[in-house]
Amino acid sequence: MQLDDLRQNWETFGAENPMWAIYTGRGRIEWDEGEFFATGDTEISEVMAVLERHGAPSGAARALDFGCGLGRLSQALAAHYETVDGVDISEPMIEGAKALARQPTGVDESRLRYHLNTKADLSIFEDESFDLVFSLITLQHMRPEFSRSYIAEFCRLVRPGGVVFFQLPTHRTTALKRLRGAAGRTMRKVRRSLLGGEPVMEMYGTPRKDVEALLTTGGLRVLDVLPDELAGPSWQSFRYLAIRPDSGD
Ligand SMILES: C[S@@+](CC[C@H](N)C(=O)[O-])C[C@H]1O[C@@H](n2cnc3c(N)ncnc32)[C@H](O)[C@@H]1O
Repeated sequence: MQLDDLRQNWETFGAENPMWAIYTGRGRIEWDEGEFFATGDTEISEVMAVLERHGAPSGAARALDFGCGLGRLSQALAAHYETVDGVDISEPMIEGAKALARQPTGVDESRLRYHLNTKADLSIFEDESFDLVFSLITLQHMRPEFSRSYIAEFCRLVRPGGVVFFQLPTHRTTALKRLRGAAGRTMRKVRRSLLGGEPVMEMYGTPRKDVEALLTTGGLRVLDVLPDELAGPSWQSFRYLAIRPDSGD
């Protein structure tokens, strides 16, 4: 799926039922706003525990949330970082994130900024401008050519001493599931070309060795690779943590 189709899909999801689209795997169609954002707090507490274990910077620091959606994770990150920039390809998601950040449970808007970015790069941000570059359940929905180029951008954006932390599946767990995945993708393509309109949420994996090689090529050192379950039961998925070493390291 080309980037423009991906954008259109996420605009439709964002306009129709964004909370469901963001958290599909949990079997919930309707979300209470408080409960939805509470899932972000839980997720980020776990992430922060991993980062602290590795001595990653937080506090007076700047974080980027790539594929921020409604800000479920950006708002939670803002409890740990001085400023958080959320970026998303879907205008309704960004508008929703801005609106929800104004709720009483939201955070100070001067510390939490949302950006619409429909490009295959993150050139809206300068080199080495973040202490944390972060992304969950986003890279898995785009073709590997795009996820790879965004990961290269993550490497460009992280400061010396800062870290990148993101999730990406590697492969479906059984040959039958792989076959079903390929057949499902073909069927969706055919349906889209015949009927048009109906949004699809595709899933893609990238081999772990390729992801690690991308990080190393980008000048980062891989600190940890943790198995995770965010891609659902039929995918093997990992969270990658890597640091841009300080010149003195
Ligand atoms: C499953 S949602 C996850 C949202 C958020 N990370 C969370 O966990 O709450 C995926 C998000 O990624 C966004 N997205 C997809 N492709 C993107 C791209 N190329 N650049 C920026 N955002 C993208 C979608 O619009 C959507 O908001």
